[in-house]
Amino acid sequence: MLIKEKEKKKIKTRNNSISKKLYIQSYGCAMNFSDSEIVASILKKEGYITTLNPHEANLILINTCSIREKAEQTVRKRITEFKKNKQANSDLVIGILGCMAERLKEKFLDEEKLVDLVIGPDAYRDLPKLIKETNEGRKAVNVILSKEETYADINPVRLNSNGVTAFVSITRGCDNMCSFCVVPFTRGRERSRNPESILSEVKQLSKIGYKEVTLLGQNVDSYLWFGGGAKKDLLKLPVNKIKEAIDFSMLLEMIAKKNPKTRIRFSTSNPQDMKDNVLKTIAKYENICNYIHLPVQSGSSKILKLMNRGHSREWYLSRINAINKHIPDCGLSSDFITGFCNETEKDHADTMSLMEIVKYHFSYMFYYSERPNTFAQRKLQDNVSLEVKKRRLQEIINLQHKHSLIRNENSINKKHEVLIEGLSKKSDAQFFGRTSQNTVVVFPKNNKEIGDFVKVRINECTSATLIGEII
Ligand code: SAH
Ligand code: F3S
Repeated sequence: MLIKEKEKKKIKTRNNSISKKLYIQSYGCAMNFSDSEIVASILKKEGYITTLNPHEANLILINTCSIREKAEQTVRKRITEFKKNKQANSDLVIGILGCMAERLKEKFLDEEKLVDLVIGPDAYRDLPKLIKETNEGRKAVNVILSKEETYADINPVRLNSNGVTAFVSITRGCDNMCSFCVVPFTRGRERSRNPESILSEVKQLSKIGYKEVTLLGQNVDSYLWFGGGAKKDLLKLPVNKIKEAIDFSMLLEMIAKKNPKTRIRFSTSNPQDMKDNVLKTIAKYENICNYIHLPVQSGSSKILKLMNRGHSREWYLSRINAINKHIPDCGLSSDFITGFCNETEKDHADTMSLMEIVKYHFSYMFYYSERPNTFAQRKLQDNVSLEVKKRRLQEIINLQHKHSLIRNENSINKKHEVLIEGLSKKSDAQFFGRTSQNTVVVFPKNNKEIGDFVKVRINECTSATLIGEII
């Protein structure tokens, strides 16, 4: 009898896990991909296992991006593709997570009839309850933003992982209010995660074989821990309390010291908050990569002011000088927006000349896309034609290619330490990995394994890739 009961229980568990399959798809920034791992962890406790096949899932979650109009269109198109899945399985629940959920709230349910559930980035702990509501035939929404939530205690389930590199989130939200950007509205106020929980996540990753972590935040330089809560509120504390706070350079140092075999990266740095102490810490520790993503958006001080970026062209260039002084072989990348409100040919030429000065290793480049409710949408005119925005974008893309090639050519005949991340896309006989400067390198396998650190001599290159051999 006892055995029978046990057997029954086993079958039940098995059936439950068979019937609880989650397909989760992420769009947009690294933070969204990292959040999906938190969501998978929350749902794992509810018995969900993840699947890469949406046809066998009974819960489909789409983690969405609102940063540009095109990103939202891509998500909407993807939702309609799930119509067939819904027709084949009437119990299928489709949920929208992330920035579009936060931006559109209940409206999403009216606009996209296939959607059952809408949940914002700070409400993921509520998912089990919301799924239950949808199972009972109701539509469910929670888009409440939080001043405290950092999901610090949740150990993410690593999705589509190579077992070598992982994201670790250290801050959430953004207080910067760049005039073009929707993120402060969709991700709420900036808050930092408890350093103990960050250290324990990194330690755990290293224990199970991970070799590199990327610390994530909209503005990592602004990391500040003195007990939790929104950064704006914390700054009201007395000066002696503020003195005890842990800032980004201290956090970096703690992680680097305690995990000497783990490579450390971080993203994104914000020029107005990047201090010399961070640069000194990078220079001091071998295991902190010599790479900084420092988005400038525009090379024109007039446009930077309209964008509310909090710094001028000259100030940005002084930060680049400081980087080059402290970390002479630092990899540099940036984000650019062309055709922002009132951008003239002269402003665009200023962007090109700034690029000529810095010669970034690579960049992410976009044309301006007006976003609802941002300062730019409310107060400025989106007055550069699409044609001109696209032409200027193409010009900076061409210039960036030229600079990437120059940077990569400089690596020829030099040796780089490379962490092997996986098989090269083009050939199973080759591996790919990254240099400390974050440039992709392709090289023959030479009996090495994924996760190994190897020394590679660079023999040739394209503008995107270094090609070499293990020495
Ligand atoms: N601090 C963030 C920035 C997120 S948005 C980070 O962690 O990367 C990423 C980039 O998208 C921005 O740097 C900017 O170049 C671009 N972007 C943001 N809003 C945009 C808009 N409205 N139109 C075009 N590009 C935009
Ligand atoms: Fe957006 Fe500016 Fe923050 S680009 S994410 S408001 S730093």
